[in-house]
Amino acid sequence: MGQFRCAAESPFRPRKTRSTTSSLTPDSASGSGRGTQRLPGPSMDDWIAFYDSAHTIYVSKLHRDAHFRTIARNIVSYIPSRDSVVLDYACGEALSAETVADACGRLILTEPAPGVRGRLVTRFTPNTKIDVRSLDELRHMDEESIDLAVMNSVAQYMTPDELDAGFAVVRRLLKPTGLLVLGDIPQPHIGLAGDVIALLGFAAKHGFVKDALRGLVRTAMSDYPQLRLRIGLQRYSEAEMLAKLAAAGMTAIRAPVNIGHNASRMTFLAGRPVKADRGATAAR
Ligand SMILES: C[S@@+](CC[C@H](N)C(=O)[O-])C[C@H]1O[C@@H](n2cnc3c(N)ncnc32)[C@H](O)[C@@H]1O
Repeated sequence: MGQFRCAAESPFRPRKTRSTTSSLTPDSASGSGRGTQRLPGPSMDDWIAFYDSAHTIYVSKLHRDAHFRTIARNIVSYIPSRDSVVLDYACGEALSAETVADACGRLILTEPAPGVRGRLVTRFTPNTKIDVRSLDELRHMDEESIDLAVMNSVAQYMTPDELDAGFAVVRRLLKPTGLLVLGDIPQPHIGLAGDVIALLGFAAKHGFVKDALRGLVRTAMSDYPQLRLRIGLQRYSEAEMLAKLAAAGMTAIRAPVNIGHNASRMTFLAGRPVKADRGATAAR
């Protein structure tokens, strides 16, 4: 395999459905709670394996740092109070996690890719506000214990069934007043040009235009387009995602702006439905 880049940052348009089955774990095959155990040896047949590989996720260090700073700053803007419990679902390298931890009471980082998760443990063990967990471990956490859950640039890598299972896990964990911020959802009608323009705009703002141009060429010449064709990504319209969140038992709206740099991608704000009689019951 040649070099890989982060699909979230790539301008290449995906296919609608994933065509391969995972050869990894029993629970990855069943589409739930992935990534705590893997068979040995290189396997590039799902996005978790991709993210655990020595890919070139970002076009440069400037790009990578700017990405994580942007996401952390936007997560902080959704933290309701300084004692909040925050969950970052499939957080990746989470290089700016300390910014988020400084603004809340406890930050739980979860990541299915075991190599990435190992680096998170090493990096954040000294910070007593940060816990690193696998996605499977979320199933054993206390119900209604999370104030804010963030799932940024993750849904497109999950099959629709995996995403439903992920929503069920998050819904169980959210407090009745809790919020899910679901970010970076690619829309079906946005193609190559939109993603390239977004990347170049972000690069211009953060001073890595040359790196971005080189990265685009490198991506076009790498094995990445084939991988993306073979595995595929999921895209949703606004109505489709709102329906999916409703089917998961959450009320949701589309946020005015995406939490990632790509303005054509969507962010949704979701939570448990407010019971109409909640106020009346409290007043009695
Ligand atoms: C583009 S990175 C996003 C990381 C981080 N949330 C961010 O905003 O930078 C995609 C993440 O999705 C995770 N991922 C890929 N396939 C997944 C799956 N099927 N289920 C859960 N997470 C998955 C990867 O391990 C990786 O952490």
